[in-house]
Amino acid sequence: MIYLKTPEEIEKMTLACDLVSRTMGEVARLVAPGVTTRHLDNVAREFMRDNGGRPACLGYGGFPATLCIEVNETVVHGFPSGYELREGDIIGIDTVVELDGFHGDMCYTFPVGEVSEQVMGLLRTTKESLYKGIEAAQPGKRIGDIGNAVQTYVEKRGYTVVREFCGHGIGRSMHEDPEIANYGRRGIGPVLKPGMCICIEPMINLGSKNVVISTDGWTTRTKDRKPSAHYEHTLVITQEGNRILTTFDYIQQALGDRFI
Ligand code: MF3
Ligand code: CO
Repeated sequence: MIYLKTPEEIEKMTLACDLVSRTMGEVARLVAPGVTTRHLDNVAREFMRDNGGRPACLGYGGFPATLCIEVNETVVHGFPSGYELREGDIIGIDTVVELDGFHGDMCYTFPVGEVSEQVMGLLRTTKESLYKGIEAAQPGKRIGDIGNAVQTYVEKRGYTVVREFCGHGIGRSMHEDPEIANYGRRGIGPVLKPGMCICIEPMINLGSKNVVISTDGWTTRTKDRKPSAHYEHTLVITQEGNRILTTFDYIQQALGDRFI
C-alpha cells in the first residue's frame, strides 16, 4: 500500500529530512584517519536526540546502532565498531531519524584522506547515478524508470549494480511501499504520483555485483571484497516533478574543498 502524503505530512517529512541532513553534517566534520566508527555513531545518536529526534535504525529489526557503517567492501548495514578509519578508506554512512512521527533517510560515502583515482571514480559515478534516478522520478512515470536510469548510467561506466537491496517508500514507517530497485526496465511498476515520498539509494560496486551477508544477519560485503559506494536521498514527488527533502549541503559545508 502506497501512502500519498498530505501537505502537512510533507512539512513533517521536510523537518525530519533536515534533521538527518544536519546530523550527517556533524558526522562529516569528524571523518578522518584514526577516528573510530563507534565515535561517529555516538555523535550522531546524541545530535539526533538533542534535536528532538529518534535514531530510527537503533533497534530496527534488532539493528544495534544509529549509523549503518560501510567501510570499503561493506555494501550496506555494517555495524559501528572500534575500527579506526585509515587514509585511503571509503566510508558510507547511512542513517534514519524519526521526528514528530515521520522519517528522513540518507546516505553519503566519504573518502578518508587521499583515495585512489579508481575509487574516486566509483564515488563520483555512484553519486551521479543517484541524481540520474532522481531526474527520472517524475509524476506519471513509473518506478522502473528510476532503476533503469541508475543502471544504464553506472553500467555504461563499467560499474555494477547490487541487486539484493533497494530504495523504498518512506513516511510514518522507515520502509513503505513501493520498493525501488536500482536496475530494471523502463515503464514497469507503480506509477509515481504527487505526494509519494521515496528514497533512492544506489549501491554500486567496482567489481562484480555479487554480495555476501555475514552471519550477523546484517553486514553485507562484496563477494570479491572490492569497494562499494552508496548514496541516498529522500524526496517527494510533486505536481511539477520532485523535491529532494534531504540535502548534502551540510556535508559540503563541513568538508569545504574536500567535498566531491
Ligand atoms: N537506508 C537504509 C535502508 O533503507 C537504512 C537502514 S537502517 C537499518 O535500508 F536499521 F535497517 F539498518
Ligand atoms: Co533507505
